[in-house]
Amino acid sequence: MLTLPLLLVAFFCLAAARPQAATIAPPQSTSTAKLNTLAQSIGKLYFGSATDNPDLTNTSYVAIFDDNTTFGQTTPTNSMKWDATEPEQGVFTFEAGDVIANLANSNGQLLRGHNCVWHEQLPDWFTAARLWVTTQAKYSWDVVNEPLNDNGTFGSDVFFDTLGVSYIGIALNAARAADPNAKLYINDFNIEGPGVKATAMMDLVTSLQSQGIPIDGVGFQCHFIVGEVPEGFQQNLEAFTALGIEVAITELDVRMTLPATDELLEQQKQDYQIVISACAAVPKCVGVTLWDFTDKFSWVPGTFAGQGAACPWDENFIRKPAFDGIALGFGA
Ligand code: G3I
Repeated sequence: MLTLPLLLVAFFCLAAARPQAATIAPPQSTSTAKLNTLAQSIGKLYFGSATDNPDLTNTSYVAIFDDNTTFGQTTPTNSMKWDATEPEQGVFTFEAGDVIANLANSNGQLLRGHNCVWHEQLPDWFTAARLWVTTQAKYSWDVVNEPLNDNGTFGSDVFFDTLGVSYIGIALNAARAADPNAKLYINDFNIEGPGVKATAMMDLVTSLQSQGIPIDGVGFQCHFIVGEVPEGFQQNLEAFTALGIEVAITELDVRMTLPATDELLEQQKQDYQIVISACAAVPKCVGVTLWDFTDKFSWVPGTFAGQGAACPWDENFIRKPAFDGIALGFGA
C-alpha cells in the first residue's frame, strides 16, 4: 500500500511530467531601425521621447533613452511645469528640470520646454494671473498648453478669466523676451483632425500673427485610441503649415482597452505608421515626440481605468509591433 509521502511524490512526478500549455509570446518588433537617425535621414529635426525624473532611476530605461540614434529629442513630462518650478510663491526650484536639460545636452538631444501656461498643475499658492518663463536654452517651448475647449471656445481658467484672450499674447511675448532663440508653440489635443477645434486653433494663430505676436508652431499632442486616428490628419497638418508656421507631434501614444491582443497590437502598429507617415509627408512637420516610450512609465493606466499598452516599448522594454510601424512611417 502507498504511504502518504509516496503518494505525494507520485503526485508531484505526474504533475511535472504533464505537458504544459505553451505560453504564446506577444508579437514583437523585428525592425532594427534607428528611429532618430531614420527621421533625420528624411529631413525631420528629430524623433524623441518625453521623460520624467523618476524614470531615470531605471538603468534599463536610461540605456535606451540615452541612445541618440533612437531619441534625438526629449520633453520633460512634469518637471518644468509651474507647480514643479515655483512650488511656493517666489521660491524657484529648477533642479529637476535641469537634470533633464543637462541629460539631453550630454546626450546631444534637443529639448522641448513643457509648459509655461496651463490650467493644470498650477501650484497651490497661485491665485492670480502671473507669467513665468525660464531662461534655459532649448529648441522649443510649449508656451501655452490646451487653451481651447473641444467646441472651439477658449477654456475658462485663471488666465482667461482674468485677462481674456490677451493672456496668450502676453505669454508668447514674455517667452520671446526670455528665450529669443526658442520656437514658441501652442500645444493642444483634439485638433489633429479637421473640425471646429482645429479651425479655432487656426483662427487663433492667424489672429496672433495679425497682431505681430510671435507664434512659431502648433503642437499636436496625438494621444490616440487604437483604430481612431482621425481622418484627414495629414491634410490638417498641411492646413496649419500653410499659415506659415511649423507643426510637431508632441505627445504621441496610442492606447487600447486591456488586455493587449495580437489584433490590437497589429492595429496599433498601423496607427503609429499612419501618424508618422503623415508627419513624414509634411515638410514643416519638424518632428515627433512619444509621451514616454515604455508602458512602464505611461500616464495612460493612471488616467483611463482598464486602458494602457499605449507605447512602442512594453513594460519590460521589449519593442512592440508599434516600433515597426514607426520605422515604416519614416520610410524604412
Ligand atoms: O509628484 C507627485 C508625487 O509627489 C505624489 O506622491 C503623487 C501622488 O499621486 O503625485 C505626483 O504628481 C503626479 C505627477 O503626474 C508626477 O507623477 C500628479 O499626481 C499627476 O497628476 C501628474 O500627471 C501628469 C499630468 O500631465 C498632469 O495632468 C502626467 O504625469 C503627465 O504625463 C501629463 O501630461 C499631460 C501633458 O502635460 C499635457 N497634455 C496631456 C498630458 C497627459 O495628461
